[in-house]
Parts: sequence; structure tokens; C-alpha cells
Amino acid sequence: MSDLRSHRSVALIGFMGVGKTTVGSLLAQLLHFDFLDTDKLIEQRQGRKISEIFATDGEPFFRKLESDLCTELEGESNKVIATGGGLAVNPANLDSLRRHALIVCLWATPETIYSRVHHQGHRPLLQHPDPLGRIRELLASRTPAYKQADVIVGVDFRSPAETARYIASSYRHVTPTK
Ligand code: S3P
Repeated sequence: MSDLRSHRSVALIGFMGVGKTTVGSLLAQLLHFDFLDTDKLIEQRQGRKISEIFATDGEPFFRKLESDLCTELEGESNKVIATGGGLAVNPANLDSLRRHALIVCLWATPETIYSRVHHQGHRPLLQHPDPLGRIRELLASRTPAYKQADVIVGVDFRSPAETARYIASSYRHVTPTK
């Protein structure tokens, strides 16, 4: 990791259902940082759910909102930022996060992801006749992006609290003077 990097915040990336929001809010408590969730922020500002944004204005519109938010967040400090599962797929978004945050990817197998999300209906990209197949396919196509994280944490066998503690200690390791 380059010493020239500035790690004022922590950004969590990774596939839908890996626990970015749950882990992120626990991590924020451990680091005494504010917690911020890109999906929630977009929903608040738009006054509607992500599923409605996809249905009414389409995915490219949502991706533009995500990218604009990424740029805006470059000025922030002391934040834990949970990102939507597709945000890191855009290289410009990853570059943007890299300017101010330690990027941590939460990683799980397609089977774990499926077991966590199959009873939830709010994710437009998983409204599919074969959700597990769709997860496998999407995860495979996104793996090169997720692997660009500074730290990759497997969550199949870690609780959210264990994951948060692991990330807090990794973060303190790279920011010893903070
Ligand atoms: C998406 C993941 C969702 C949300 C949107 C698109 C994706 O966020 O941003 O439905 O492309 O993987 P979560 O990862 O929080 O489910």
C-alpha cells in the first residue's frame, strides 16, 4: 500500500447481501466515525426506493447518482462508507474512493449470498427466475473489481461483529498516527 495514500475514511465494497450496512455501522462505532450508506443516501435524496429509481429511470440513471455521490464524498473524513454492490464496478468510482479511503471488500460465496438475500425482494438485479445462477454470474463478472480492494475479508464464517473488529484492527494498522 502506498504511503502517499490518504486513508481518512473506510469504504466497504462487495456484493449484495455480504453485510456492508451491518458491518459498516458496527465498524463506525468501533472507530468513532460517522456511518454513511450510499444506497440510503440516494434514497433519501431522491425520496424513493432504489427499486423505484431502477423501474422509473433505469439503471444508468442510478449509476450516475452513485458516481456523483462518490465524487462528493472525496471531501469527507472520518466516515465509514457502505457502498451499493455495483458501485465499485465503475473504475472511476474505485479511483475516487482510493483518494480518501481504505477500501475493504467483504467477500462471500454465491451460496452464502443467496441464503442471505433470497427471502428479500427489494433488489432489482436479483428479480430473476434463477437468483442463485444470477448471483454466480454477476459475482464472477464483478470479481476483478472487488479484488482491487486494499483488504479483502471473508464473511462466510465471520459474524458482523468479528468482521468489524478485524477491519478496525486493519485500519488502525495502516493509520497508526490517527
Ligand atoms: C446493487 C446493489 C444494491 C443497490 C442496487 C444495485 C448492485 O446495494 O445499490 O440494488 O448492483 O449490486 P446492496 O449491495 O446494498 O444490496
